[in-house]
Amino acid sequence: MSIVLLGPPGAGKGTQAKRIEEKYGLVQLSTGDMLRAERKSGSELGRKAQAIMDAGKLVSDDLIIEMISRRIDQLKGGKGFILDGFPRTVPQAEALDRMLAEKGLKLDAVIEMTVDEAALIDRIAGRFSCAKCGASYHDQFNRPKTDGVCDVCGATEFTRRADDRPEAVKIRLKAYREQTAPILPYYRKKGLLHPVDGMASIDEVGRQIEAILGRP
Ligand code: AP5
Repeated sequence: MSIVLLGPPGAGKGTQAKRIEEKYGLVQLSTGDMLRAERKSGSELGRKAQAIMDAGKLVSDDLIIEMISRRIDQLKGGKGFILDGFPRTVPQAEALDRMLAEKGLKLDAVIEMTVDEAALIDRIAGRFSCAKCGASYHDQFNRPKTDGVCDVCGATEFTRRADDRPEAVKIRLKAYREQTAPILPYYRKKGLLHPVDGMASIDEVGRQIEAILGRP
């Protein structure tokens, strides 16, 4: 199964992708996480992406399309994947269709997570993640079971993203409205778009997604 999670910054794409991974055995392909890993490794791609990401703007379509195509090739023979943060522009959506057709694959569903803009700002402002395994938490909505200790790996160091500063968040929301939202009619026309209420609790959003995807 191949699915896309679409939604503005802070909508909960990463949170739900992790749950779908566990339940359905699909692999999360987050272009944001891949770019952050490239930055950490000091690669040329990572260096090119750094300033663009920190400013809240989108990295060029060419770089992203090549990066995701390579990752999909590495997954051959698995149960499938969840695209989180890709596609983000109409040219990326068109390139994805071509790429999947060439690989003998197709998209099964595009899940659109809708959330009020005020809620997005609160979610992003309160987000932090484990410095060791990357598990995501929130000061208010999703705290670790024991304060200061990661539920997943037990580490005690946490980080906050540079692009979660309020000035960068404004630019990311603008990029979503102007460059990503135009993808919605593209997928609606293909009959692939399934909206879910991203304002509901994390568990309830998960249930809505499972109702769309069917039994694991
Ligand atoms: P990326 O890493 O993809 O960031 P994003 O799309 O802005 O999304 P986020 O990771 O901020 O949010 P999310 O929807 O995953 O929410 P989360 O689950 O964390 O991209 C970063 C940058 O990389 C881009 O700006 C761009 O520069 C570049 N980039 C990446 N892909 C690209 C592409 N394809 N093309 C070009 N450039 C690209 O949830 C947020 C918080 O809310 C968490 O704390 C969570 O615990 C909490 N939460 C989640 N769900 C709920 C809920 N239902 N109720 C209450 N709290 C909740």
